[in-house]
Amino acid sequence: MIKEKVNIAVFISGRGTNLKALILRSNKKTCNYKIAYVISNKKNAAGLKIAKKNKIITKVISQSFLKIEQKKLAKILINKNIKFICLAGFMKILSPYFLNFFKNKIINIHPSLLPKYKGLNTHKRALEAKEKFSGCTIHYVSKKLDSGKIIAKKKVKIFKKDTLKKLEKRVLKEENKLYPLVLEKLVRS
Ligand code: GAR
Repeated sequence: MIKEKVNIAVFISGRGTNLKALILRSNKKTCNYKIAYVISNKKNAAGLKIAKKNKIITKVISQSFLKIEQKKLAKILINKNIKFICLAGFMKILSPYFLNFFKNKIINIHPSLLPKYKGLNTHKRALEAKEKFSGCTIHYVSKKLDSGKIIAKKKVKIFKKDTLKKLEKRVLKEENKLYPLVLEKLVRS
């Protein structure tokens, strides 16, 4: 039983399966972290409903997310004693200004075996390149897109008859397993 759980903020833009996986794990007595805050840059993100259902405070940031708003948000997160920020399908690049507030405390999950297929349409590109494996990667967030130090990877086999949907589903299943495990490990260290 963990007495004091470490506060985590999760940044999302969409459906929120990774957020849900992180929350489910955090609800276990033995889990060392708690999702204390969910931030979205999309007001209609389905993940916001998941957060609200779990009684987690949410906040929608503006599309421009200018310096003054970044500073405000950083202050809020620091006041809430947030120790790590998990990007989970957050489709906006955080500025170096914001990153500076949380050096080595922001992590991201990406649906490819980095450094391969940074950016968008990862599964499509992996299929087109006739890769034998794809997967997901968790890494620290740095100034360059999908380029920070790698923390963990999970390989997923690509089958000859795979479609985009099938591959995405298989990788997502692994993402949802990997993210909570890696976060727990990081919090522990
Ligand atoms: C996930 O596949 C995640 O790896 C990807 O967005 C999806 C979000 O799904 N992130 C990126 O592509 C970031 N570069 P979710 O909203 O169900 O967690």
